[in-house]
Amino acid sequence: MELQLVVHPDALLREKSGKITDIDGEIVRLADAMIEKMHVARGIGLAGVQIGRPQRVFVTHVEGDTPRVFINPTIIETSVEQSDYDEGCLSIPAIYAGVTRPQAIRVQAWNERGRPFTMDADGLLARVIQHENDHLNGVLFIDYLTEHVRDTAMASYDPAVDPALVSRR
Ligand code: NI
Repeated sequence: MELQLVVHPDALLREKSGKITDIDGEIVRLADAMIEKMHVARGIGLAGVQIGRPQRVFVTHVEGDTPRVFINPTIIETSVEQSDYDEGCLSIPAIYAGVTRPQAIRVQAWNERGRPFTMDADGLLARVIQHENDHLNGVLFIDYLTEHVRDTAMASYDPAVDPALVSRR
């Protein structure tokens, strides 16, 4: 399965992804291909819409964790405590900016075997889950920036940059 990254300002990234009704072999293959694409692009999260499949699925793989698949996820709790971190996105290559989000979350979803699960996450994994979940609703991390910060961050934006070739600041 050859997957192509959809990059900002493609209008598809602003679409709300549709619920997955059947967790079947096709979704399993898609999730596997998304994990591979995420690794090749050296990302730590990837949502379906980012590879042209506006369905409610995303994958994550942060350091020290295993790859994870989230299907039809819902963030059911967020901590009062917040944290700030320089975020990037495979759909906005080579652009990073600080985003404030809840430090910890509880998420409910289905895995690639069709099993429902609930998990608590904090730190970077909690952040990635929130970032990817936003993709399912057409939201990008740059939406959280003030206009001035966004304009400054995006001044050097080149959608043709290969994210795998860019070292993270
Ligand atoms: Ni992203």
